[in-house]
Amino acid sequence: MTMLFPATHGRNLRKLMRDRLPAKVFKRLEDAGRLAGQSGVSAFVVGGLVRDLLLGHTTIDVDIAVEGDGMAFAGRLADRHGAALKIFERFATAYVVFPDGFKLDVATARGESYAHPTALPAVKPSSLEKDLYRRDFTINALAIDLNGRHFGDVIDYYGGLHDLKAKTIRVLHDRSFVDDPTRLFRAIRFEQRFGFHLDANTLGLLRQAAATDLVHRLSGPRLRNEVMALLAEQDPRRTIRRMAGLDLLRFIHPAVTLTPQLSVFLSDLHKALAWWAKQFPGRPVDRALVYFMNLTERLDIAATDAVLKRLALPNRQADKVRTVKERLASTSRVLARRRALKPSQAYRLFAALPDEGFILLAARTKSSHVKRLLTAHVTPDRHVKPSLTGEDLKKMGLKPGPLYGKILDRLLDARLDGQVASEDQERDLAKKIANALGG
Ligand code: CTP
Repeated sequence: MTMLFPATHGRNLRKLMRDRLPAKVFKRLEDAGRLAGQSGVSAFVVGGLVRDLLLGHTTIDVDIAVEGDGMAFAGRLADRHGAALKIFERFATAYVVFPDGFKLDVATARGESYAHPTALPAVKPSSLEKDLYRRDFTINALAIDLNGRHFGDVIDYYGGLHDLKAKTIRVLHDRSFVDDPTRLFRAIRFEQRFGFHLDANTLGLLRQAAATDLVHRLSGPRLRNEVMALLAEQDPRRTIRRMAGLDLLRFIHPAVTLTPQLSVFLSDLHKALAWWAKQFPGRPVDRALVYFMNLTERLDIAATDAVLKRLALPNRQADKVRTVKERLASTSRVLARRRALKPSQAYRLFAALPDEGFILLAARTKSSHVKRLLTAHVTPDRHVKPSLTGEDLKKMGLKPGPLYGKILDRLLDARLDGQVASEDQERDLAKKIANALGG
């Protein structure tokens, strides 16, 4: 059933904006409205900020849509605030970066036409109404008028206010998922984040689109952004469950499925992440990556590499995934033996793992023994280094070569285990090792 809602200027958000937004942001929006009037264009706040204001959440991501020449408007706005300006002519979008770092996105209102599904849209300047029509869901297609006496009025062409109240995620038209398959994932993201539900028609369209290969046509970075955004939500156990229920995990890899075992493990992971955050508040981890490692845990190296390539994971993240994959099983086996480890042995065991791997270890073993070892390893004053360097070994008359690495490694172990405590003792030990190794 399609309900028709007239564009409403009925509700004014000036007070809400003033109360909820940082004072500076509110003033800048007022000023943007004034400037629009002087420039003969109309400016509107669009997107997530409108939704979040109405839901009582705070966001400071500000998107402004302009009926008229948005790029000229962005230029004037930047000039008057001494702000930096970056314009993307092809997309008719601009960033205005204020001297205090606050960033505002400006776009010329456009009606987009898609050359083919998943293509980047071509831009045709147009009205706000058309601009809002090309958006993903009704709750994201609301706008706030910034112009003159209408400042603060909500503009609602597509029933977004009603859907916000009814906690409903609804597409604006039946081709929405085909136009942009990232919306399959976005629907779940908003549904789970706000505790909303998908309207029946939207759910049907989503299922239809999920059964095709549309998602396969998304570029690596676009698919990755969506998957990672879902794994970065407050409780990824829910978003993962929903992806599984709607058969979307297969787009990560056909072998990624939500087994009962994985479900249990996801809960352990949730607890391990909470433990880590409490224990090491100054050492944040890439939470989404931890969940990603868990999701892909059953894949072998070749399949994992295929996933990393498909999602075009940046090297830093991909390297962590590979390292954890290569080392986690053997590390947990050693820990499972529960033999007392010398500090140097614990150090060698953990040294190669990124923090994200520690969390998986803590989750997998659920053992306070392992948590103690990890805590000792991570605590900064345990990061001992030998005093001697390669340069010192050279001064001692030792011949440079692979021997240096071996000596420095053994010196580190001796330091960690408390066998040497001074530079002199290190020198003695270095000589002994060199003699023993024939250096
Ligand atoms: N949008 C869309 N379709 C997409 C991506 C974005 O229609 N595939 C529109 C929506 O109107 C959205 C706005 O662009 O509100 C801004 O997008 P984005 O910043 O990604 O989302 P937000 O709604 O701000 O959500 P979040 O709070 O997660 O950033």
